[in-house]
Amino acid sequence: MEQGIRLHNLTYSVDGRTILQGVDLFCAKGVNRTILGASGVGKTTILKLMLGLLRPDSGTVSIDGELIAGLSESELIRVRSRLAIVFQGGALFDSMTVGENVGYRLLEEGRPESQVERVVREKLSFVGLEDTIDRYPAQLSGGMKKRAAIARALASEPEYILFDEPTTGLDPIGVYNICNVIRRLQEEGKTALLVTHDLETAFNVSERFSFIHKARMVFEGSREEMLGSALPAIREFLTPTDESLFTVNRKPGGEL
Ligand SMILES: Nc1ncnc2c1ncn2[C@@H]1O[C@H](COP(=O)(O)OP(=O)(O)O)[C@@H](O)[C@H]1O
Ligand SMILES: [Mg+2]
Repeated sequence: MEQGIRLHNLTYSVDGRTILQGVDLFCAKGVNRTILGASGVGKTTILKLMLGLLRPDSGTVSIDGELIAGLSESELIRVRSRLAIVFQGGALFDSMTVGENVGYRLLEEGRPESQVERVVREKLSFVGLEDTIDRYPAQLSGGMKKRAAIARALASEPEYILFDEPTTGLDPIGVYNICNVIRRLQEEGKTALLVTHDLETAFNVSERFSFIHKARMVFEGSREEMLGSALPAIREFLTPTDESLFTVNRKPGGEL
């Protein structure tokens, strides 16, 4: 059976507005990929569709060859457990310690406490945060919060880890640390799928690139193919001009 995440002819709209139109995408297992595109173009929406958190208007999502539509609740849980997401804000629970954040889902599943503690320490150590186990999220820097969120995503041993803007807003050391974690995950056989508008991070950790523009997936290829692409939307993305600020990001009647 095919190993990877496949979106086939996916269409999704909100309030009659088409966000994604006929999107095809295959993220092969073992190959890190970044989906690039301007702000507001539908990148986060794609991740939510992959996770089954949103339902497409038409088209299909399959994980390792299994269509997620039509699965029973228990089958969906089994298939979905191969995926984990690190949300843009990290989404840690402020009232829990870092260790509790990483382990709570395993405890909820009824795993023995000693086993959960071992996993929590292992995952925190993987992201370089073993010393923060008893701290609260508010006591961490932005980059540390992101890494704690990654440790939490890893606790369930997913095959695919989806990253929503993992380095946006971080300082250079924070960016370096996150990229380092993503590359080490790949060495361990995990597959990272990123969505971001941060090109440097994308080039640093992924081999394949997809580009979304005006609701459509307009490009798929290697770094070299993207850099050499003649598509105006990609050229503009790669070399933004002052003018592009006004054409790409301005919302009707809104601020930039
Ligand atoms: N729940 C929602 N209700 C209305 N509009 C939404 C909702 N979620 C997303 N959108 C719209 O869908 C578009 C794509 O959003 P998103 O996937 O978050 O973009 P990106 O992650 O690329 O910045 C945006 O224009 C956004 O305003
Ligand atoms: Mg987003």
